[in-house]
Amino acid sequence: MQFDLIVKGGTVVTSGGVARSDVGIRGGRVAALAPSLEGERVVDAQGLLVLPGGVDTHVHLDQPATGATENSDDFDTGTASAAAGGTTTVVSFAWQTRGGSLKAAVEDYHRRAAKARIDYSFHLTVTDPTPTVLDEELPALVESGCRSVKVFMTYDGVGLNDAQLIETLAASRRAGALVCVHAEHHGLIEYLSRRIVAAGLTAPKYHPWAKPPLVEREAIGRIAAMAEMLDVPVQVFHVSCPETAAEVARAQARGLKIWAETCPQYLALTAEDLDRPGFEGAKFIFGPPARTAADREGLWHYLRNGTLGVISSDHSPLAFDSPKGKKAAGADAPFDKVPNGIPGLAARLPITFHEGVAKGRIDVETFVDLVATRPARLFGLSPRKGSIAIGADADLVLFDPDATQVLTQAGQHHGGDFTPYEGREVRGRVVATYLRGEPVFADGRVVGAPGRGRFLARDPYPEIAPRGVFPIPFNPVDGTVVA
Ligand code: URP
Ligand code: ZN
Ligand code: ZN
Repeated sequence: MQFDLIVKGGTVVTSGGVARSDVGIRGGRVAALAPSLEGERVVDAQGLLVLPGGVDTHVHLDQPATGATENSDDFDTGTASAAAGGTTTVVSFAWQTRGGSLKAAVEDYHRRAAKARIDYSFHLTVTDPTPTVLDEELPALVESGCRSVKVFMTYDGVGLNDAQLIETLAASRRAGALVCVHAEHHGLIEYLSRRIVAAGLTAPKYHPWAKPPLVEREAIGRIAAMAEMLDVPVQVFHVSCPETAAEVARAQARGLKIWAETCPQYLALTAEDLDRPGFEGAKFIFGPPARTAADREGLWHYLRNGTLGVISSDHSPLAFDSPKGKKAAGADAPFDKVPNGIPGLAARLPITFHEGVAKGRIDVETFVDLVATRPARLFGLSPRKGSIAIGADADLVLFDPDATQVLTQAGQHHGGDFTPYEGREVRGRVVATYLRGEPVFADGRVVGAPGRGRFLARDPYPEIAPRGVFPIPFNPVDGTVVA
């Protein structure tokens, strides 16, 4: 058999096992997996792990400005950062603005994504669920391959009220989409923020006080109740601590199709990181916030038992030293006026490997499962993405599990001006990243031109088919009596 490229002598890792194997690539796909393949173009992977390209199902790239702020990554810089961090597929957000059309947002987003260096798909962020959006635009957009909907339960101008959430869940069920949720109690956060700031406590370190675990726990419980009543599959985004993971587990134990992710920032940072001199703590303002060291440790239990099945980056980049970024409301703004979000695409695999595998909390197969295989399966990207198998896209990462590296801003290859992990030493390093058999990152450099990435239209898939189970003998979405 002729190959375009052979990755030779590495240790291939999938969620199902670890094996010494060469990988033969033809036409951008994995064509052979065998101990000894021969060919003209060979990459030496001796001593390295060969991982499936990372699949990051929660990243914000080139999002339209909200208020004064601007996302510091477009699809060129954002996907360069992804490639540098061993990620070859991202799912980003086509974002409806209030009063705007969701269809127009998706058309605009396709244009923006033409610069992508890796493959991509879109979630549909619904901020204004009008009948036109829910009944006309959304079904057609889901059919076009954007098979997930994003809703917020908080944030002014973005968050939906309960009635809107219910209508959006119902429309998503009819259209056949997975609903992804930012779950936090808006009213409590608003009240707490006002009272904390009025007491003169304005520094970044008070941000976690306004978003305690209970605001997240309540919102997860509420969205789970809605999902149960309407029989809608749901993915809970950025679960920050064991208390809120337990709420997901309770809903799962009732048999619901509810899944959840956490992110490296909840595994590597704590609320103490916000307590830095001056405005430095603003570099760690994101929502839900970082919690305690005990919470951080407790999340691993829920990662190991499968309650949390995905580790995404929630890459939501804002420059620090910019009036369009963290300083949008001034260089010493109260914490509740600082825009939420941090960059994290390039750091996702290194932080997760270091905290998980190098520290003995998970094995390397589970690592691959969390950063590639399960996100691909849950978001309808399997079997093409997320694993190393015959016929799958040859998206591969050569990873040195023994190398140590110090994470720096320069090494993130993104458009922003900081990383919250600056100076952190981690074990494990991405040596090279291949997208469909061609390098996109090698020798410490992002290689190739922007625009190689392709849109991934996602067809219907079994994971997100509704269960057909309702708590009453009536299907409220279709308006039918259930026998
Ligand atoms: O703080 C965060 N996570 N900002 C990004 C938007 C979101 O909530 O996912
Ligand atoms: Zn969110
Ligand atoms: Zn997000």
